[in-house]
Amino acid sequence: MTGIDDLPIRDELRGKSPYGAPQLDVPVRLNTNENPYPLPEPLVARIAERVAEAARGLNRYPDRDAVELRTELARYLSRTAGLEVGVAQVWAANGSNEVLQQLLQAFGGPGRTAMGFEPSYSMHALISRSTGTGWISGPRSADFTIDVDAAREAIAEHRPDVLFITSPNNPTGTAVEAETVLALHDAAQAARADAAGALVVVDEAYGEFSHRPSLLPLIEGRPRLVLSRTMSKAFGAAGLRLGYLAADPAVVDAVQLVRLPYHLSAVTQATALAALEHTDTLLGYVDALKAERDRLVAELRTLGCEVTDSDANFVQFGRFEDAHAAWQGLLDRGVLVRDNGVPGWLRVTAGTPAENDAFLDAVRELMKEKSA
Ligand SMILES: Cc1ncc(COP(=O)(O)O)c(C=O)c1O
Repeated sequence: MTGIDDLPIRDELRGKSPYGAPQLDVPVRLNTNENPYPLPEPLVARIAERVAEAARGLNRYPDRDAVELRTELARYLSRTAGLEVGVAQVWAANGSNEVLQQLLQAFGGPGRTAMGFEPSYSMHALISRSTGTGWISGPRSADFTIDVDAAREAIAEHRPDVLFITSPNNPTGTAVEAETVLALHDAAQAARADAAGALVVVDEAYGEFSHRPSLLPLIEGRPRLVLSRTMSKAFGAAGLRLGYLAADPAVVDAVQLVRLPYHLSAVTQATALAALEHTDTLLGYVDALKAERDRLVAELRTLGCEVTDSDANFVQFGRFEDAHAAWQGLLDRGVLVRDNGVPGWLRVTAGTPAENDAFLDAVRELMKEKSA
């Protein structure tokens, strides 16, 4: 049998495993930070209508620049995120993963490096690797916040071409203060003052769940600062695959140099536009999930767990001597959470009230077993 390593595959991909959380068929799945609420029926009907309209034109390639969709995304950001942005400042792709990939294709690549503060979203490192960009793991404090001095030191030492700041951070749930983002942005520009500076990517995939305002206003007057967002979480549309960025129009021009032509299908564009028509309803679910998230934090603490403050739709909890055994213990009780490999900690996504109750019951049993 031929194995991957028998193929003339790139050396840096040898021996590697693909990204992926287990997709197990269990009663309560709280492991991938999805929104637990299905799209409301009126939106499903509107998607069917808009997709039917798009289907009549499927003999043609879609709008390559997705102008109508980008206009609506710009309108959404302007309405909710504290800065008036125009269509030229917004770009969309198949999930924010593709947005990040396009950014790394344009600003990373062979001979260049990217840095993030770990533990963080593991795809930042993986997409860096797949685009030939060197990865540097930056420091995070024991409480999972970013220590500005330690971060500045790492930036000055490694001079990354691309710097990732994830706020709220996955898997810890930790938000990053605007002043910290500015300090790191300035440090990254200073470290690469002899080149054309560094690209700073603020990954705000969970921005709508935060207690704090969006970091979007920071892009103003900073052409090397990019904000990345997604419809996978707050819009409850992970299956749609729609991510977007807001930045200086020059960044949008740059990603167009590497995007595949017609990368965003007419069906995707039509579906996303339908979802944006229902923004207010969908954001109502966000409020419910924030309340459930806060309940999870409070109840987990009551049960004797340590919990990292969360600004996202998930909660990091522990600490377990053997986090993987605890993960298995919850799975045995029908609840799937995520073991991100952070020693001692697990991550649970806020689900429906009933799912969260089932999760809390399972933790209660686990903690009893632990103390017995
Ligand atoms: C921090 C962060 N960024 C980006 C993504 C990718 O989201 P998507 O590609 O679904 O937009 C995720 C997904 O979990 C994430 O946690």
